[in-house]
Amino acid sequence: MRDSSKCILCGDCVRMCEEVQGIGVLGFAHRGNRLAVMPAFEKKLSEVACVNCGQCASVCPTGALTVKSDVERVWKALADPDKKVVVQVAPAVRVAFGEAFGLPAGSIGTGEMVAALRRLGFHRVYDTSFTADLTVHEEFNEFLKRLEEGKKLPLFTSCCPAWIKFAEQYYPQYLKNISTCRSPQAMFGAIAKTFLSEELDVKRENLYVVSIMPCTAKKFEASRRELSYQGILDVDAVLTTQELIRMVREANLDFSKLPAEAFDLPMGMSSGAGVIFGNTGGVSEAVLRMAASKLEAKSQRFEFKDVRGFEGCKEAVITIGDQEIRVGIVHGLANAHKLLKTIENGQRKYHMVEVMACQGGCVGGGGQPLPNDSGRREARAKGLYQIDIQREIRCSNDNPFVERLYSQHLGYPGSPKAEELLHTHYTPRRRVDGEEVALVHAKEAKTKIRVCVGTSCFLKGSYDVLKALQDAIADKNLSDQIDLGATFCLEKCDNGPSIQVNDKSFSKMTPDKARELVASLEHSIKNK
Ligand code: SF4
Ligand code: SF4
Ligand code: FES
Repeated sequence: MRDSSKCILCGDCVRMCEEVQGIGVLGFAHRGNRLAVMPAFEKKLSEVACVNCGQCASVCPTGALTVKSDVERVWKALADPDKKVVVQVAPAVRVAFGEAFGLPAGSIGTGEMVAALRRLGFHRVYDTSFTADLTVHEEFNEFLKRLEEGKKLPLFTSCCPAWIKFAEQYYPQYLKNISTCRSPQAMFGAIAKTFLSEELDVKRENLYVVSIMPCTAKKFEASRRELSYQGILDVDAVLTTQELIRMVREANLDFSKLPAEAFDLPMGMSSGAGVIFGNTGGVSEAVLRMAASKLEAKSQRFEFKDVRGFEGCKEAVITIGDQEIRVGIVHGLANAHKLLKTIENGQRKYHMVEVMACQGGCVGGGGQPLPNDSGRREARAKGLYQIDIQREIRCSNDNPFVERLYSQHLGYPGSPKAEELLHTHYTPRRRVDGEEVALVHAKEAKTKIRVCVGTSCFLKGSYDVLKALQDAIADKNLSDQIDLGATFCLEKCDNGPSIQVNDKSFSKMTPDKARELVASLEHSIKNK
């Protein structure tokens, strides 16, 4: 949400969106005392290519950009006697939650966090790391099949909903390569609504599933129609770590007096692999652990340190059994752009690529407590590796409750039931929603020019191109012959400003090129 009255025009959000995330949907508009930060044409962020990563809000020093809160909805559900409200907590929350109550970043606050959630009224408190373990089973199965068939490689990870929206908008050609596994949050929602409602003896529509996430994009993910059953969403509400802290304060809970409590079973049990999902490189490492446990006799290989660390683009070649696995890892979507270009032009070849939108992975998510700087992200990442080392079970393959879920309900990884509940699909999407705007309306004209005024082209000067076209058409008395309009994203942002003349596209337009174009159109119109 934007509150322009608080904006001091520092431009931090604009730089974050453009330089770190490679999206560029925020920019400065107007001049003088009307200068403001906004998406082009004052569209809402939901109507442009925003991937909901929340990083702009994370760096805003005045609170002019904030994340839409779901706290009131959750309080209401907790007070509803007909509802049973259960909650899942993502790995990265436990190493950041305590920061608001005076603990250093990276301190492990799992027990106090679980105790706080029970006192807030949640009926059961579960761990998203459980479904991270489930994700590893499904994703490894999918990966192995693709390796054997040599198809749809590299396999891209699918846990990060900001990356998924980014790929749907910018790289539709790679959607078939993205793992069809739902994210751990979404898997939890489907499993809870399908099986937990039976176990807790509550109707599906009365089981209310809340997620506590470090992530703002998970709010968007939870609203995707494909993650619902008969019109009921699998996850009802998503709160960020910051919103959980707000609830704890509103309930006047004294953090220092909270005991350490354990998650509820069965979905509170997880391996160390499920916990490190919160770090960049964590999903890859979890899958590699599974690969080692399946492909090597009596493997005790748990740590794959080559995939760890905060470098923006990493790569590692790991040999497991007689299989060499080349892994690429990126965090920050501008880095994803870079890596995808190298894959596209054949410079790099991988078997698997992990993409996380936020710097450091989910430990640096847009819903984490502020400041969300690199020091804190690294401390939180260390906290997750610490939990991993302390776990008796470190490989997802050894989680007995995941095994039980398969034997009681799902069958085996990739089974029809698992496909139905744990997998999904992706759809290419336009970067900007919007109607065309007619500027020189010539109903009978055979020549139709559309100028892209989407954010990227607008920032590169498409307004000047539009103006030059408008003037040239008027100068040459072609207003009855050329129909001129503005449109939103023509999906050629890299080479903007872009325009379309009937079915033909023109890139890198300038006002001079626009005038030349009208001159050549005049020539062909008059010679017809
Ligand atoms: S949420 Fe992310 S993509 Fe959207 S405007 Fe902010 S930084 Fe850009
Ligand atoms: S990296 Fe994690 S916190 Fe950030 S958008 Fe992706 S899933 Fe959310
Ligand atoms: S903004 Fe995408 S082509 Fe113009």
